[in-house]
Amino acid sequence: MMELSDFEVIEIKNTWKIPMADPSGSGQAILLKFFERYPHNKLKFQDFKDQSLDQLKTCPKFKAHASRIVRTFNEAINVLGTDYTDPALHEIFSKVAISHHKRGISKASYNELKEVILEIVVAVCEMNDCQKCAWEKLMETIYELISRPLIALKSEVGFLNILKFVCN
Ligand code: HEM
Repeated sequence: MMELSDFEVIEIKNTWKIPMADPSGSGQAILLKFFERYPHNKLKFQDFKDQSLDQLKTCPKFKAHASRIVRTFNEAINVLGTDYTDPALHEIFSKVAISHHKRGISKASYNELKEVILEIVVAVCEMNDCQKCAWEKLMETIYELISRPLIALKSEVGFLNILKFVCN
């Protein structure tokens, strides 16, 4: 599944140290840009939907949530290059897929977040093309892991709907 070379794994781990020097600040920069560019995503957050971007900057819950996203990526990047990379990544991102499916997060929203994350890490790390390519591959893998359980969850819902239709 993971098609990153050893060299690319090293590049990802090295570049990741830069945003990880300030996990909360990096997470906030990502979320603020995400909400600014794609405001419909803010409406999914009960605690944030009625707050302006300026208000969010001083909101403790916003800071906490920003850190949680960065910590999830940190957990994933830590397991890269180990014997258990694939099952560990699978576990981390299946959990994300399932908890977010319940909230009705669409594939489009994931893609919007991916675009913003890549843009921010590429800029803060001043990445070269090779590092950028490694990060793009990492994000593709993560997104593939998120979409697998989503497809299963959707077909489960589809199956239950067919069952309801047949039984009625
Ligand atoms: C790879 C992408 C993502 C990661 C790693 C991630 C990570 C997390 C984590 C760790 C949590 C808290 C634990 C949980 O409830 O699952 C969470 C909650 C949440 N996420 Fe995400 N997320 C991602 C994408 C998205 C996207 C695209 C949206 C779109 C709006 C979103 C909206 C939410 C919401 C609404 C919550 C609940 C916040 C609350 O009320 O506490 N997430 N996310």
